[in-house]
Amino acid sequence: MKQPINISIDGPAGAGKSTVARQVADALSFTYIDTGAMYRALTYEALKHHVDVHNEARVMSLLKDMEITLENEGMTSRVYVNEEDVTDAVRLNEVTNNVSFIAKHEKIRIEMVKKQQEMAESKRTVMDGRDIGTAVLPDAEVKVFLTASVEERARRRHQEHLDKGIPSDLSVLIEEIARRDKIDSEREFAPLKKAHDAVEVDSTSMSIEEVIQTILQLVRERTNGSE
Ligand code: CDP
Ligand code: CDP
Repeated sequence: MKQPINISIDGPAGAGKSTVARQVADALSFTYIDTGAMYRALTYEALKHHVDVHNEARVMSLLKDMEITLENEGMTSRVYVNEEDVTDAVRLNEVTNNVSFIAKHEKIRIEMVKKQQEMAESKRTVMDGRDIGTAVLPDAEVKVFLTASVEERARRRHQEHLDKGIPSDLSVLIEEIARRDKIDSEREFAPLKKAHDAVEVDSTSMSIEEVIQTILQLVRERTNGSE
């Protein structure tokens, strides 16, 4: 049996984590795990049930009653909560603008990390998020910290919105992304930060393909081609 190998990709919003993680996983036949979707699913449930996102105990009791399932269908990842397909719902603006408040709570993070570690057990995974290299998979063989300037990240989101016909304002997106980065990087528990052994890749002027090839090259170097 092949040894489990894990690849962690952390970084701020819009850096390209999920886009490249999914394709790196596909190229290597690894399992892709989108941990952000799990925090988003919990946020969606909290908003749906009118639970105050700042109330850790109430959010925690919601999480205890939830089964979050991630499924990959080709290049799309679907998210389910107790069998309800919430893939599109978790991308709603209201969820995006509240998720970092939910992700601040220590007990919530402990529970999420446990679930994520179980998902990665005895598998070869590419996992993306904010604390994968630092907390979820500290022994990952390959760790990437993917960044890009805030303007470029907002521009990418703006383009995504335009492509989908969603109204979008670039300056509002810059503000929202900067606000979320600040909360994620300054929180007390498992903040967004580069693991000491992660390789930083600045994708500001890189194409998606260049980022994928950079990561695949790192995988070859770190695993001596044993992947
Ligand atoms: O795709 P995008 O970068 O917009 O966000 P995401 O990866 O879906 O994550 C949404 C939010 O969940 C982040 O802004 C963090 O607040 C939180 N998150 C986290 O705290 N830890 C993770 N491992 C993943 C996400
Ligand atoms: O997961 P994260 O929030 O880090 O980013 P994402 O959801 O993968 O979104 C990044 C967006 O930027 C997607 O629309 C990509 O097509 C685009 N993009 C990229 O990911 N990487 C580049 N080097 C250039 C563009």
